[in-house]
Amino acid sequence: MAFNHKHLLGIKDLNKEDILTILDTAESFREISIREIKKVPTLRGKTIINLFYEPSTRTRSSFEIAAKRLSADIINFNSSVSSVAKGETLKDTVLNLEAMRPDAIIIRHPASGAPYFLTTFCKSSVINAGDGTHEHPTQALLDALTIRQMKGDFSKLKVVIAGDILHSRVAKSNIFLLTKMGAKVVLSGPPPLVPPEFKEFGVEIDYNFDNALKDADVVMMLRIQRERQGKNFFPSLREYRNLYSLTPEKMKNAKKDAIIMHPGPINRGIELSTDLADSSKSVILKQVENGIAVRMAILYLLLGGGGK
Ligand code: CP
Repeated sequence: MAFNHKHLLGIKDLNKEDILTILDTAESFREISIREIKKVPTLRGKTIINLFYEPSTRTRSSFEIAAKRLSADIINFNSSVSSVAKGETLKDTVLNLEAMRPDAIIIRHPASGAPYFLTTFCKSSVINAGDGTHEHPTQALLDALTIRQMKGDFSKLKVVIAGDILHSRVAKSNIFLLTKMGAKVVLSGPPPLVPPEFKEFGVEIDYNFDNALKDADVVMMLRIQRERQGKNFFPSLREYRNLYSLTPEKMKNAKKDAIIMHPGPINRGIELSTDLADSSKSVILKQVENGIAVRMAILYLLLGGGGK
């Protein structure tokens, strides 16, 4: 299994074979997390920096656990208690961290393109943990692992992605991944949050959520990203809820065995009803569990045994 990449910046840079290599490697790492001793020596001696300029519950802890399960040393950099608070630039911060000779820097940043910027001067591998409204590649990969486990062949699936597509890096990485793997992808949400230009990525758009859901195998709900919205993209939350909240009633349009996904954090009662979030159709916590295996695979392929 060759994986000839030094960095993971986005799904756009990966081909179908790369994606399958990551998913298969992740599948082989899943077993480590259910052992009594959840640790292998694969990345002993490697140093990884978790550099997060935005809040995170799942991604940061998942990378930390993944690194520790592979015996790498990982440090968490919190921008609010670092010299960033004294005005240090991103470049200076990273140059100083690089002087400590890490092997990989995992970065989450509000600016789209920040991980790419790091590759212009960094010697370490750079891993994108979410950049602005651009990409969140490890989220799409853990989503893909979950979909493959639950549903099998991507090319036979209809995946509906609904909500704030415009501001969602999760949506973009999933669109790139799922279309590369041959799935039919349908986007739904208020028109200002689902611009028609998205059709250029090979997806369909249906603003009528009930129609969009018809015969869906997978329903992926997204959070309204108020922190990235500079203006009102829909008249009221009440109207949004009426039209686009996934309820048991709306879910009847999808296939009987359809699964519900959400990258988290969930706004219960807004994009997704509490009943459904906690139902047997929901694979939300399975996604989180798979995040560890996918991030172990990424760290292994970039730092340990991938090729370059
Ligand atoms: N899905 C996701 O990126 O969650 P966090 O923001 O908690 O990392």
